[in-house]
Amino acid sequence: MEYLSFEKREAVGLLTMRRPEALNALHQASLEELNRFLSAGLQAEGIQVLILTGAGDRAFIAGADIKAMNGLSSLEMLDFLDLGQRVAWLLERQDIATIAAVNGYALGGGLELALACDLIYASQNALLGLPEVTLGLIPGFGGTQRLARAIGTRRAKEMILSGKPISAQEAWQIGLVNRVFPPQDLIPAAMALAEQITRNSPIAVREAKRAVNFGAIPGLQEAMELEKQICAVTFGTEDRREGMAAFIEKRKPSFSKRG
Ligand code: CAA
Repeated sequence: MEYLSFEKREAVGLLTMRRPEALNALHQASLEELNRFLSAGLQAEGIQVLILTGAGDRAFIAGADIKAMNGLSSLEMLDFLDLGQRVAWLLERQDIATIAAVNGYALGGGLELALACDLIYASQNALLGLPEVTLGLIPGFGGTQRLARAIGTRRAKEMILSGKPISAQEAWQIGLVNRVFPPQDLIPAAMALAEQITRNSPIAVREAKRAVNFGAIPGLQEAMELEKQICAVTFGTEDRREGMAAFIEKRKPSFSKRG
């Protein structure tokens, strides 16, 4: 695997996103790799809990890759969003428990994948946010839906409309993450929880997760479809072109003054 590494420690799998030069941002090839990996049937490999984290000490995943997205047509963007949403569904629907170990920036698509995991553990230096509006588009890997379901619409709107990331401590206070740890303790803590889960009945864990999701998921698929369409439409605007150009050119964007 080029952009992922995987380590099996007894019944716990540690999956690490590896694109440190781009703060582990998700481009087509890394998402496809993740898609293939998560489709492969981890349970059959004897894995009972999957931990997802990012390589390095700066980022979990800093979002979808802005430089790669910038060159896409709206139709290509729709396909890219479809792939990102499929990966999020694969995480959400795994028959095993999943833990996002957020070790730094979890922005845009990065936070959206963390939200699709069952639990989120974060390091004290983590920053979590959905900054898409600062680029002239909206979240597209399910963030508008999963964030609102996780912390309520009012808090979700504060994060989504401002685009401003929040600290791990604040994320813990509003229930976005389960627990916060010093950076060096993050993976050991996630491993300890994972090992505790592996001592339980795999069938009971799977079914408990299914029961919780059954209540939380209704309407999610339709809403994510709408989110995908709206994200692709905003992708076609002059504001989005300006927002992404400004990021790439390392300057502040100058958006239109009317919606
Ligand atoms: N896409 C592409 N490249 C990225 C990236 C991203 N999302 N995030 C960081 N990088 C790259 C930077 O361009 C930079 O590359 P160069 O060295 O070649 O310039 C490298 O990673 C290191 O980043 P910075 O120099 O910017 O580091 P910093 O410490 O100054 O800032 C940061 C860190 C605040 C995370 C900043 O990089 C940033 O704002 N990144 C973008 C975050 C973002 O907007 N994510 C949402 C993407 S949109 C999305 O995800 C859409 C969706 O829902 C589907």
